[in-house]
Amino acid sequence: MVSEVTLDIQPDAERLAAAAADYIATRVRAKPDLSILVATGNTPMPAYAELARRVAVGAVDFSRVTAVQLDEYLGVSGSDPRSLWGWMERSFVEPLGITRAVRLEDPAQFEAEIARLGGLDLAILGLGPNGHLGFNEPPSQPDAPTRTLELTPASLASNAAYWGELAVPTGAITAGMDVILAARACLLLVSGAHKRAILRAALEGPQTPAVPASFLRRTALTVIADGAAWT
Ligand code: PGA
Repeated sequence: MVSEVTLDIQPDAERLAAAAADYIATRVRAKPDLSILVATGNTPMPAYAELARRVAVGAVDFSRVTAVQLDEYLGVSGSDPRSLWGWMERSFVEPLGITRAVRLEDPAQFEAEIARLGGLDLAILGLGPNGHLGFNEPPSQPDAPTRTLELTPASLASNAAYWGELAVPTGAITAGMDVILAARACLLLVSGAHKRAILRAALEGPQTPAVPASFLRRTALTVIADGAAWT
């Protein structure tokens, strides 16, 4: 497979957010009706906030963008504080003035909707501490479809940090590896020393289902990391 990886190391999380906002805004200016797979999680939040500031001053217009949900817990309503749909709406869809969003509820309908969009132009992704992409938990083959699954203990533990006292649901649905790897571009955002080993594995280790993120090297991949995650 041809590798097309661009690695952009920024000194700190703040400049990582600015670089990520630059990258995303440039793509939207080039194609205003961009379809974007949107990660939640802590890492991209400062970048989304920076984009919102730019939208507010008219520097970029997301009104024709389609936001596509990456992953979700099962049995959680949209108004539940743990809903990843709700998190995407609050952090990305509403602050950027996006009017079209695709919700991930039924695997077959979701993949059909992406096909109807003509595929994904961009996938914005975080890196799971266990190498997962969305909830494509290890092991995930590169052709793994959009599906429901049980979360691994590692993901349950890392996601517990988001919700305080609330339990992490154990069932989830995720955009498939097939959908992610078919995106015309992928942007992987990685921050913090706790991601250092898994980022090395993803970029320099074997491409293996044990590290689903390692398959991103098959795509037009841009990695923006801070110095703590890549030293
Ligand atoms: P984080 O999550 O951005 O909160 O570190 C990434 C992930 O688990 O996919």
